[in-house]
Amino acid sequence: MDDEEIENLLDGYYSRDMHYEEGRILGSMYTKPPDVVLKSFFKFYQANLGNAGLYPGTAELEREVVKFLLKLTSGSEDFYGRIVSGGTEANITALWAAREMGYSRILTTEDAHFSVTKAAKLLKIPLKRLEVKNGIMDIDALSSELRRGDIVVLTAGTTPLGLIDPIEEVSKLCDEGCYLHVDAAFGGYVIPFLRELGHTDKKFGFDVENVMSVTIDPHKMGMAPYPAGGLVARENLFERIAVDAPYLMGGKSDTLLGTRQSGSVAAAYAAILHFRWEGYRKVVKECMDRAEYMVKRAEEEGFDVPFKPEMNIVNIGLKDVRKAKEILLTRGWGISTNPKYSTVRIVVMPHVTREVIERFLEELKNIKRDYGL
Ligand SMILES: Cc1ncc(COP(=O)(O)O)c(C=O)c1O
Repeated sequence: MDDEEIENLLDGYYSRDMHYEEGRILGSMYTKPPDVVLKSFFKFYQANLGNAGLYPGTAELEREVVKFLLKLTSGSEDFYGRIVSGGTEANITALWAAREMGYSRILTTEDAHFSVTKAAKLLKIPLKRLEVKNGIMDIDALSSELRRGDIVVLTAGTTPLGLIDPIEEVSKLCDEGCYLHVDAAFGGYVIPFLRELGHTDKKFGFDVENVMSVTIDPHKMGMAPYPAGGLVARENLFERIAVDAPYLMGGKSDTLLGTRQSGSVAAAYAAILHFRWEGYRKVVKECMDRAEYMVKRAEEEGFDVPFKPEMNIVNIGLKDVRKAKEILLTRGWGISTNPKYSTVRIVVMPHVTREVIERFLEELKNIKRDYGL
């Protein structure tokens, strides 16, 4: 086929997908990155950080991104980190390393991301998911379960509700022989700015004494393109999982994947340069303002908002969310639901403007009226 034919054919597929700029994807933790960020991706996408010896420039970029992730997580510059394919890989990697260190059971909550379950299955580590209390880890339930050798996985920005588990309290329970991993895949690029904006005083990173590792993803609130997850750690977890790879220049492979997309690393760094600390704070402020606006408008329209958002994730209660999801999807809305809480879940990313919020609430109001939801 010639180039034009290929492009036309692919355009046909592309036009069937949803696109962020259309303002109809409300259930995703991603948004379209700025053009300069996307351009950086394509400049570096043929490098392979799995064989970093060939790409010293790209390897340096990874260290720069990790440095920024360590700033967000209150880590020191001599801590460790890698840019990986996403939060799933970051969580699996942390739990793999913890298992190599001798820890032997995972305790987490029902609302932890499914990647923790995947990790437990893959690594054959027994897993106990505790019932949440008001959407977060129940500290009493945890303290009666916890024993030496456990790995505790807490979430800073839970997937369904965007809430923060009681990390500082759990850390106090964890000082005796357990491993504390924090999944801040979404919240890691949010909470530091919420603190500066006076929304919270909670800590989630290495300023909490016993936190050993943190998942924090550039491809969520870091405004970087897929695939870019991050794992940072107090100790060199990567050494724990390294295997010999004689055909590679470094002779070792110390991440879960072999070949690693490097465009992601360049793009994540371009996003950091584009936004800088103040720019990210502005993004978080705008998203939080809109999340609060959405709560206010939803309540004015008679909807129940069962959880006050701690970050830019809003949940709106409906009697039948399965039916609501079905109808909303056929009407072109990319939304997600929390069947457990009987809510429609909206992640208020930068493309979710006030105008989008108004259009969506109008649609929801009509559906609620017409179908008795
Ligand atoms: C808290 C949390 N952790 C991990 C993940 C997994 O991230 P990824 O989809 O990048 O693998 C998600 C995804 O939404 C998440 O919300």
